Amino acid sequence: MATRQVTVRGARLAYDDTGEGSPVLLLHGFPFNRSLWSEQAEALSSKYRIITPDLRGFGESAAEDEEATATMETLAQDAAALLDELKIDRAVIGGLSMGGYVALAFTRLFPLRVRALILADTRAQADSPEAQKGREETAAKALREGIGTVADAMLPKLFAPATAAEHPEIVERVRAMIMGTSTKGAAAALRGMAERPDRTHFLAQILAPTLIVVGGEDAITPPKDSEVMRREIRGSRLVVIPNAGHVSNLERPHEFNQAVGIFLDELTP
Ligand code: MLT
Repeated sequence: MATRQVTVRGARLAYDDTGEGSPVLLLHGFPFNRSLWSEQAEALSSKYRIITPDLRGFGESAAEDEEATATMETLAQDAAALLDELKIDRAVIGGLSMGGYVALAFTRLFPLRVRALILADTRAQADSPEAQKGREETAAKALREGIGTVADAMLPKLFAPATAAEHPEIVERVRAMIMGTSTKGAAAALRGMAERPDRTHFLAQILAPTLIVVGGEDAITPPKDSEVMRREIRGSRLVVIPNAGHVSNLERPHEFNQAVGIFLDELTP
């Protein structure tokens, strides 16, 4: 598939746009890129239009300078500008982990543009002061020593034990995704994640139908974080995927796609 590119708000963004029908915008996590969603695009594009951007600073999208901060609001505004370019007013907005932080920021900024929400392996809480400090250290180390330091720190935490033991190809694919991330883009997003506000109190204001999905063995945003969102978001549904970790959509694509497919099929036109 040929990469599509658009310049929005001063940033060149790469994205894929496959299928026809009701639009679904999927936002990847940190420090990944739009290929995170390949299995979802393949399975869901027979019925839906699946749009997957590389967020600012990731994949084939341009990064800013070393000092930049990519707040979750900045990334949400980029996503809204991409929808503007595509002449899409409302879409299902989905995000995994950092993509979920962006999806929540999007919902706060543009509630009327959210037809429905998918929050995968993510959380509403802000970082603790220690986690914020850790992000700054990780950013500095990545800029100094390279993105491999981020891969080494994250890979052991990303997968369920079953994935790590039985699916080395998934581990390798994620490593390659991380190694392709620019250190500037990663540093900017780390600062942006550290700054993100606590959105727990916002959850009760969400009116869009919401699906929450989490790997049962997600060690980074564990199921208890998803429980908080399920409790606070009116009418939301939680699906816990067994034997999946933090990248549940890659580790158990069949189960993930089934949960999302059922949710999308049930939305009223
Ligand atoms: C992600 O997968 O996007 C990150 O692990 C999120 C985070 O570091 O909080």
